[in-house]
Amino acid sequence: QEVFAAEMERTFIAIKPDGVQRGAEDCLELGFKLVGIKVVVPSKDFAQKHYHDLKERPFFNGSCDFLSSGPVIAMVWEGEGVIRYGRKLIGATDRQKSEHGTIRGDLAVVVGRNIIHGSNGPVTAKDEINLWFKPQELVSYTTNAEKWIY
Ligand code: PPS
Repeated sequence: QEVFAAEMERTFIAIKPDGVQRGAEDCLELGFKLVGIKVVVPSKDFAQKHYHDLKERPFFNGSCDFLSSGPVIAMVWEGEGVIRYGRKLIGATDRQKSEHGTIRGDLAVVVGRNIIHGSNGPVTAKDEINLWFKPQELVSYTTNAEKWIY
């Protein structure tokens, strides 16, 4: 149990305003452990912090406006390989390239309205979790199901 706990990672997943309006949270069946969740309308300033890596990209301002345009469902998921698996389930950034069966492949329309965000690696995951959640907003618990998974 201890050994596996050490390998657990966490990722930040957010249903964006377009996804919330379209009920995209219904298709989020990660099969991992949800350790934090809240609904927030981020300010523009907050969205700029979230997308700080994209500051030089032409769509930076548009992405920040969009993220702060309505309710976002912010979540932290935990489990072995959850960062990579989360990205797989979400699908490629560009809707034209996202596979059928992924959230974006099934629901996204264009790249700027792609329903959902997921951390792209361990460093971003840590940064994003720290930005969106206070430590006391994240819980630790053991599910009965874990016995059969790990
Ligand atoms: S990464 O690091 O692999 O997530 O990089 P990338 O796939 O390039 O995307 C980073 C975020 O930029 C958004 N993006 C765009 N928005 C609007 N227009 C265009 N052309 C565009 N290209 C990339 C993309 O949706 C990613 O944000 P999130 O919030 O993760 O969707």
